[in-house]
Order: sequence, then C-alpha cells, then structure tokens
Amino acid sequence: MCGIIGYVGRRPALPILMEGLRRLEYRGYDSAGIALADSGAVSVTKSAGRISVLEQQLDLEVAHTAGVGHTRWATHGAPTDINAHPHLDGSGRIAVIHNGIIENDRALRTYLERQGVQFTSETDTEVIAQLIGQFYDGNLEQAVRQALHEVTGTYGIAVICADEPDVIVAARQGSPLIIGVGQNEHLLASDAAAILAHTSQVIYLGDGEMARMTPDDLRLTTLDAIPVAKDVEEIEWSLEQIELAGYEHFMLKEICEQPSSLENCLRGRIDLREGTVHLGGLVDCSRELVRARRIIMTACGTAWHAALVGEYLFEDLARIPTETDYASEFRYRNPIIDDGTVVLAVSQSGETADTIAALTEAKRRGAMTLGVVNVVGSTLTRETDAGVYLHVGPEIGVASTKAFTGQVSVLALIACYLGRRKHMSPAAATQFIAALSQIPEQMSPLLEHVDHAKAVAQRYSGRDNWLYLGRGYNYPVALEGALKLKEISYIHAEGLPAAEMKHGPIALITEGMPVVVIATAGSQYDKMMSNISEVRSRGGSIIAIATDGDREIAKLAEHVLYVPDTLEPLQPLLTVIPLQLIAYHAAVLRGCNVDKPRNLAKSVTVE
Ligand code: M6R
Repeated sequence: MCGIIGYVGRRPALPILMEGLRRLEYRGYDSAGIALADSGAVSVTKSAGRISVLEQQLDLEVAHTAGVGHTRWATHGAPTDINAHPHLDGSGRIAVIHNGIIENDRALRTYLERQGVQFTSETDTEVIAQLIGQFYDGNLEQAVRQALHEVTGTYGIAVICADEPDVIVAARQGSPLIIGVGQNEHLLASDAAAILAHTSQVIYLGDGEMARMTPDDLRLTTLDAIPVAKDVEEIEWSLEQIELAGYEHFMLKEICEQPSSLENCLRGRIDLREGTVHLGGLVDCSRELVRARRIIMTACGTAWHAALVGEYLFEDLARIPTETDYASEFRYRNPIIDDGTVVLAVSQSGETADTIAALTEAKRRGAMTLGVVNVVGSTLTRETDAGVYLHVGPEIGVASTKAFTGQVSVLALIACYLGRRKHMSPAAATQFIAALSQIPEQMSPLLEHVDHAKAVAQRYSGRDNWLYLGRGYNYPVALEGALKLKEISYIHAEGLPAAEMKHGPIALITEGMPVVVIATAGSQYDKMMSNISEVRSRGGSIIAIATDGDREIAKLAEHVLYVPDTLEPLQPLLTVIPLQLIAYHAAVLRGCNVDKPRNLAKSVTVE
C-alpha cells in the first residue's frame, strides 16, 4: 500500500524520484520521503502529508545520481515526520525504504536495544535499517542479505549507503518490486507507473530474490546468494494511460474509459460465427477445468462483488457449483478442498495480500488455481496455475471502476467458455457473446448523459444514510454501488439483496431516505416493484435504475436512471455505471478527494 521508487544512473536522481513519487501517490499518501546518496553522506528529507509538502522542503538543485523515495500508508506507527521513510541506521550512513510488515520487529527491536541501538521511530522498517547497520562491513549487499535472514514478514526494500554511493540493493518477499532497465541507469519501483516515463524494459523481482544495481550493472541473486537469470520484459501500458488526459480525476477518467477498456478486454476472445470463446490463458488447463466439480471464487472489495456476479454466471451458464468467499475468511476457515475443486482468485492489482494468502492456502491444500487479474506480471499471476488477464489498462483511482466491468466480463467469458464445453448450444453461446460484444456500445450513452446521476447526487449528497437494493445478478451491483458511495464520499451506505430488507434493515427507512433500487427488466422485476412499494410506504425516496422504455417505474420513483436492455446475466455491466457516477458526483459535491479517499490506498498489500 506504500510506494517505492529508486534510481541509480548518470542523471540527477531527485527529479526522477519526485516524478515517480507523484505517480505512486495513489498507493499511499500519509507521508513521503527521499534519501540521496553521495560519497561521504546520505541525505534524507521526509515529512508527514502529501508529496507536495515534501517537495517544499527539498533542494531541487542537488545533482546526486542515486537515491530512493517512498510514499507511505501507515501500518506501524502514526503518519508523522519521524515515522516517514527512509529510515537510517545508527551511523546515519545507510537508508532503507520498505513496503510490507516485519512480523518479528518486537523481538528484533528488543535484541538491538540490548546491543545499545537507539531507535528514533516506531516503525518496523527502522529495525531493518538498524540490523543492516549492525552487519555492515564495507559490503552493502552482504549486510542486507545477513539482515534479511533475521527477518520474518513481508517486504519490498531498497537500501542505499554513503560508502557505496552508486549502489542500490533491493530485495523482495511478498511485496512487489520491478527493476527498470535503461541506458547506463537502473530504476526500481513497486509499481510500473512510477518508471514508465523512463523505460518500459523491466525485470520482475521474485519472492526471496535480491538485486544489486549500479548504473551499468545489475546482479540478481537469491537471499542465499545463488545467481538468478531473468528475462527483460516489456510493460504493455503506455504513459498516456497513466495520465489524467484532461479529466479532473482518475476515477472519472476510468469510468468514462469503460467502453474502450471493455473492447480491449473482449478483443480477440469472441468468435460470433462459431459461438465460441477463446481464452489462451486457459488452454492448457481446460480439460481439468471442465471436469471441476466445484469452483470457489476468492477476492476482496470490488473484486469480490465481481466474483459474486461470476458465481451466478458460472452456475447459470456452466452449471458448475460455485461459491464466493472473502479471501480473508477463506484462508482461516479450514476450507474443504478436494480433487474436483478449482479456486479462482479475482484481483485488479494481483497484489492484494488477503487474496494472495487465500490462493496460497488453496494451493497448499492441493487445489488447481486460476487468476482473473489486471496487472500483468503481478504476484497473483505468477502464483496461479493459469488465468485470464482483464486488459482494461491501468487503474489509478483508488475506487475501482473499470476493473469491475472488466472482471465481470472476463468471468462471463470463462462461464461461456466452460458452458460451451459442457452443455451450452452454439446458438445459446452466440446469443450470449453477441450481447456481450454490444455492451461497450451500450455503455457510451450512459456516459454521455450524466445529468441524471448528477441530479441525484445534488439532491441527496447531504443525506448520511443510503440503501442499495438489488436481486439476482443485480444484488452484487447493489453492494458495489454502496461501496463506491461510502469509500469516496464517506456517506454510510448499505447494499442488500432486496428481500433481506424486511428482515431488519427496513427499520432504517425514514422520510426521504435515499434508496437506490436496481429494477431492470427480467425475472426479478415484479419482486423489485414490491420492494419499491415497501420502501415508499415508509417514506423512502426511490432512485431507480431501470431498463429503457419502462414508464411504469417513473410513477413510483423520484428519479429513474435508464440503462439499455441486455441479457439479464450481463445487466451488471450497465447498471453499475449510473451507480459509479452517482458516487463520483456525491464525493465531488461533498468536497472529498475522489482519487485519494481518507484512510485508503490502492492495493491493500497488508493483511
Ligand atoms: O486489487 P484488488 O482488485 O485485489 O483490490 C481489492 C480491493 O481492495 C478493491 O477492490 C477495493 O475494494 C477498492 N477500493 C474498491 O473500490
């Protein structure tokens, strides 16, 4: 959840580090810091608050050619100047930045204090810096190696030392690190976005691996000093994709990108003439997959909502019993995994700690594992047996939007792929994938006519409690709509399967309470109309998401936001859009920082 950037080369490091930090700010924004190496000293500047606060304290003229930078999301210790990274060892000559959590930091701290080490911060990271300092004997790589042998937990670290000013040593265990390879320079980052302006040639560091970087040399080894050979890979994202491109916020940009991001997601995967779906990532395991007796989907947050849609799709289209589990619950609840169980992890980042832990647990119990992931080369993609990428481009806004529609689309493709190999007729599959291929076009008008969503936000953004109701395929959309609203506008919102309302939550409804009801045409329509009546008779204000042409609903609802007609299983791809827009406009109206909501960060890489 924090961001790491490092540079060693022939150019001044500071502007490169600052640019990297700005691009990483969505990863964490409690505090930030920079360390620059020079022969003779390491200079550290750090402060609580945003990158802009740090920038004011820096001498931008310095010409050091090596350094590291960090943006933090606090875990151990409050977000203060002192707890900000980098952290120094006792000599002040070694600086460390760190993502992850050191689990034995208490024991190590006590041990080091007994050796006379004086700590200045409350962080687990300082323990690493002090340990490296204890081991340092003129060889930074060796000292880092020795220190890491004492450490348990997760880390992505970068270390510099005054005595070896053109060296960065990095190591990874459970927290991503990418090495950028340039002309007479190497970069290091926790996220491709931070280095894309300088190079698209990268090496993904694996767990238990270390790197020693100088401008002209890169040495990769395991923690036990065994050399590692790795290919240089090309990042497929472009610089334009990670810029605002005239939009006020990344969230709005990403909401509006959905027609094109879905086109990219579907490209080359649908054969309308044959009524088939092509998923290269599943070819090698398709026989085993078709024989699956049970699928468990595991994910967190928005990805969990998409997985829940996937559960309905898999049971409907492929007739494979499927269940969806919160990753954090799955791993600790002694799940039953037998020969016929496939575990499928859904994640935008591919770095969510709970999801990775759930997948690791599934593998330990012998399950075949699949990933539905957006970020190429991320940890999940390397841990799963097979998988399908979303290909929706980088998602920078903390609130996940285009990843949700990408995840639902990929799960729809997998459901159809399996359905066709089991019992689904070519005609049924053709109808399904034809409807799916029309979704990008159907999304566009929803994004052009945003006045209704804005009007709803204007009327109700002052209300502190909202309800979202849906049934069937739109039940996960109700959950997603509520999550979007609460995470960026800090309005309390609850999403429910509509029938559950009368088992308790109906007591919340008071005069004028906004209740968003997804009541599109289909098998659940009449039931949803009954729910609308129940809400109205208790004074609630209905904001309905309905199918184009439904005039009846307008008589019952204060506001109706229409979506084009499509097959019921595909409705979530359209019904979610007005809900994303309502949340976005409500947050703007309430003066919230849409892309950097309070207490949150993109990618939750700690459990
Ligand atoms: O990267 P992932 O898809 O694994 O992330 C999972 C959740 O942390 C994420 O969807 C989170 O709920 C978003 N902030 C929701 O907008």
